[in-house]
Amino acid sequence: MSQSVHVHAFRDVLDGGGIVDDPERIATYTTDQRQLFTGSTFAVLKPATTKQVADIVQLAARLGIGLVPQGGNTSYCGGATPDASGRQMILSLERMDRIREIDPVSMSISVDAGAILKNVQDAAASVGLLLPLSLGAEGSCRIGGNIGSNAGGLSVVRYGMTRDLLLGIEAVLSDGTVVSDMRKLRKNNTGYDIKQCFVGSEGTLGIVTGAVLRLAPMPARRATAWLKLAAGAPLAELLGLVRRESAELLTTFEFMTARSIALATDATTNPPSVDAGPGGAVLVELASSSSHLDLDGLMEAVLGEAVESGWIEDAFLAQSRAQRAAMWEVRENIPEGEKRRNGSVKHDISVPLSAIQRFLDLAGSQVQAYGPDLELSVYGHVGDGNLHYNVLVPPDADRIEFTRQIESDLSLQLYDTAATLGGTFSAEHGVGRFKKHLLEKYGDAGRIAAMRRIKTAFDPSEILNPGAVVRPFEPGSVR
Ligand code: MLT
Ligand code: ZN
Repeated sequence: MSQSVHVHAFRDVLDGGGIVDDPERIATYTTDQRQLFTGSTFAVLKPATTKQVADIVQLAARLGIGLVPQGGNTSYCGGATPDASGRQMILSLERMDRIREIDPVSMSISVDAGAILKNVQDAAASVGLLLPLSLGAEGSCRIGGNIGSNAGGLSVVRYGMTRDLLLGIEAVLSDGTVVSDMRKLRKNNTGYDIKQCFVGSEGTLGIVTGAVLRLAPMPARRATAWLKLAAGAPLAELLGLVRRESAELLTTFEFMTARSIALATDATTNPPSVDAGPGGAVLVELASSSSHLDLDGLMEAVLGEAVESGWIEDAFLAQSRAQRAAMWEVRENIPEGEKRRNGSVKHDISVPLSAIQRFLDLAGSQVQAYGPDLELSVYGHVGDGNLHYNVLVPPDADRIEFTRQIESDLSLQLYDTAATLGGTFSAEHGVGRFKKHLLEKYGDAGRIAAMRRIKTAFDPSEILNPGAVVRPFEPGSVR
């Protein structure tokens, strides 16, 4: 069957506006967010309802066409980009962007999977509640993608990752069956927790079309501080101190090196008044929904103790919204700063907190031995043991070529180090197509075998995001 016959068949199951086959418009969907790879497709499908998604999946299964689900196209690992075969179609959820229901009493929000994260945050805020998922891409990433990649972000230390926020799900299976489990229940011990199968599956087990998310009380007060670290300051111990003394009020503990801060500063319009100490800097935030707690007083006491320990040289408590925003702007602009300079080779490492200093020492020596002139941008969610250990692409280098070169050698050394310390090559960015070989290399054999069996059970004809995350199970193979 020719591609135009396929387009015609899909047009029939969609209303008029639901399909894009103009090559120029298609091009905006086929390159990954980091512009490392461009795939190929002959049409983008844009359903408006769950029923249309089910019809699309049934038709694709009949025609043997792979479907690559795409939300905001913000995957760092090529999870939403079709391969080069031209045999895969993109299924964009962008038209399914409704807020279905907010229940302030149950503290939950039900949304379409194509809802933009920021819009869901705003909808929750309109009833005085917080959707505690916050990340740089929140203005464009969509809830389905957040679920598919189990997105983390800037307040995981307090609220957990997307997995921890998911109460209910609606998803279309590979034969068109709709899993309709949009419940708001905190407790529901009735067999397998099917919704969790879709979390982190990057569209390989089903197409998520809706979700119910847990909300939290909106913080009434926040205390935000910038800590300039002394040379060799032990990050895990400092976190331990701050966490212990601020109890469960800690929402953020973000580490940044001086180089990352300088990159962010270059990308901001107003130069910030904060900078790094010899050991870098940490952005700490406490938040409480109670207006009775003196968070500033608590933060001052915690910082006083940290200064006494000798781990920090100086600390600044934000005195106004503007100062708080300026501190956050530095942290949030680091990826943009890297991009402006010619990008970075990203390593989304996580190690147990107890090994974080060791990782920094060992990785530093590896980089030094590999290329003494290489520049690093190291920052991340240290509260979660997650470091973005990025090698900057030299301004005059070919970005793609340099990335390939680093990824084929130094990156593997860094991942080896993380693995030896009990860590992982992907903390919050997923596997997609770019990190599949790393999962093969570092994943536990039994776990990969289980993943393959699950993939085969959910998607026997391999039409759901083929080529991403994991290969299907092959009878007779041990993994
Ligand atoms: C972040 O923490 O800012 C992102 O996960 C990393 C990035 O955008 O490079
Ligand atoms: Zn991150």
